Amino acid sequence: MIMIMKISKKVEEVLNKQINAEFWSAYLYLSMSAWAEAKGFKGFANWMRVQFHEEVSHALKIQDFILTRSGQVKLEPLAAVKTSWDSLLNMMEDTYEHECKVTSLIHQCYEAALAEKDYATSTMLQWFIDEQIEEEANALEIIDVLKITGEKSGGVFYLDKKLGHRTLAGS
Ligand SMILES: [Fe+2]
Ligand SMILES: [Fe+2]
Repeated sequence: MIMIMKISKKVEEVLNKQINAEFWSAYLYLSMSAWAEAKGFKGFANWMRVQFHEEVSHALKIQDFILTRSGQVKLEPLAAVKTSWDSLLNMMEDTYEHECKVTSLIHQCYEAALAEKDYATSTMLQWFIDEQIEEEANALEIIDVLKITGEKSGGVFYLDKKLGHRTLAGS
C-alpha cells in the first residue's frame, strides 16, 4: 500500500490562503490590464494580461499540490481590487509593492512548512521563492525605465511596444 503523507491542517490553511493571494494577484493584474488598455497602452495591457495568466497558474499549482497530498482546497471570496491609477509609474510601483508582499506571504508558508517538518511542501515552495525574485525584478526593471524616460516621451512608446511582445510561454 502506498502511503502519501497527508498535509497537516496548519500547512493546508496557509496554502489555501496563498491560493487566495495568487488569485487576488491575478485579479489585480487583470484590473491593471483593463486600465492600461483603456488609456491606450496596449503593450502594458498585454504585459498585465500575461501576468494575470501567470498568477492563475500559480494558484492552480498550489491547488493541485494540496489535492495530491490529500488535503482540502477551500476557495475563499476575493477582495475588491483597485480599478484606476494616477500613472503608469504609479501602477508599476503598486505592482512592485504587491509582489514584495506576496514574497513575504510565500516565506510565511515556507516557515509554516518547516515548523511542521513538511519537507515536501517546503520543496514545492522553493519554486515560488525563486519565482518571486523574478517577479520583483521584472516590476523594478519597468519602474527604472519609466523613471529614466518620463511618461510623456517617446521612450514610453518604445517601452509599451516592447511589453506588447511578452507572451505567456516566454514570460
Ligand atoms: Fe504569484
Ligand atoms: Fe506575482
